[in-house]
Amino acid sequence: MAETETATRPYSLAQYVADLKAAVADAADESEILAAVGPLARRLALDRSWLAPKLFETDEEQGFLAHLLHEEPDQGLAVFAVNWLPGRGAPPHDHGTWAVVAGVVGAERNIRYSRLDDGSRPGFAELAVKHDFTAAPGELVAMKTGGIHAVRNETDAVTLSLHTYGRHVNRTDRKQFDLETKSVRDFIVKVG
Ligand SMILES: [Fe+2]
Repeated sequence: MAETETATRPYSLAQYVADLKAAVADAADESEILAAVGPLARRLALDRSWLAPKLFETDEEQGFLAHLLHEEPDQGLAVFAVNWLPGRGAPPHDHGTWAVVAGVVGAERNIRYSRLDDGSRPGFAELAVKHDFTAAPGELVAMKTGGIHAVRNETDAVTLSLHTYGRHVNRTDRKQFDLETKSVRDFIVKVG
């Protein structure tokens, strides 16, 4: 079925999860996972029928709040809606698994980083900007395990994006990075 045809048909969260599981099971590696998950995430992001008001409840202290939409019992997949307050964001971080982010409401700036050091010095990392992209609704940011990005909401309204991961990100050994001190710390986020 052509993508323009499927895009006009309703798409539920339950169908998204079923399609995700099939796509991941069929994929030989993370490149194939990202290639398969991207169009599915774009479709759910543009459908919006799943967008409940609760998903816009945010966290002033953190500047954003992740709402868990689905987690597989074996923790093999996790889907979140994440909202972002105006002028706020998340520091550079990785995910400990693959990640596909799709814009849903508003536009979010995603700054992607390369790691310059070899990771051998505990607690130390040196990053360089490699890509700077502002994702509008239906636009994607896809990262393999180890991919690093920072997120900023530079608009004057709350934004929301759909985040799909190979594992719940509070259950991986993922990190946040301080660009000035070149230090590395754990990155656990509040989940609504
Ligand atoms: Fe992220």
